[in-house]
Amino acid sequence: MPLKLKFTLIVLSISAIAACTQKSVIRDQKENLKSSETIQELMLSLIAPTSDGIWDSANRSGIVEQQPQTNEEWAAVRQQAVTLLDAAERLSEGGRRVAVKDSKFEIPGIKKSPEEIQQLIDAKPEIYFRYAQQLQATAEETLAAIDAKNATALLEIGGRVDDTCEQCHKTFWYPNQFESKQ
Ligand code: HEC
Repeated sequence: MPLKLKFTLIVLSISAIAACTQKSVIRDQKENLKSSETIQELMLSLIAPTSDGIWDSANRSGIVEQQPQTNEEWAAVRQQAVTLLDAAERLSEGGRRVAVKDSKFEIPGIKKSPEEIQQLIDAKPEIYFRYAQQLQATAEETLAAIDAKNATALLEIGGRVDDTCEQCHKTFWYPNQFESKQ
């Protein structure tokens, strides 16, 4: 399923039952973080919009007309990739809170609450950081493909970025959904 569609579905289902949750996140943010955004804010403000922007432009279904063509189009995609890389670096910093207090994104039985997500990350920090660093590495590769104006490579990297998003989400965000399919 294309990245954009997948997350549109997720966001729609979240909005549908948003009223269900009213919990706050337990942990204090570490003071040595370079920025204070939560994981949720990084996802919503930077990671989802830039990845949608980059891989819509080099369309996953391979529609050639939609790949970056002009210098301006490549420059626009590069800006998105720089932001994605920056966000991936921030995601890799330890001690980042999952969400601000009273965030609403739990879907009972499918998605974990912020506290549960925090506990999962605290229990397996090395796996969380492996995925965050994987995202960082693919964002670096994305920049290199853009600099080489290589639309084929950009598309191939997009598939791997998608896998990384999905793997981290399956592990920390909606593991129940994954388990129920086993
Ligand atoms: C290192 C782990 C990790 C990676 C990699 C990751 N995410 Fe996330 N993402 C999370 C966690 C944890 C949540 C649940 C907390 C939250 O809602 O923000 C989440 C939530 C989200 C949400 C929902 C935010 C909300 O609360 O409504 C979106 C959208 C999202 N991610 C997009 C992406 C995309 C797109 C990628 C890949 C380009 C990606 N994520 C990569 C960990 C990750």
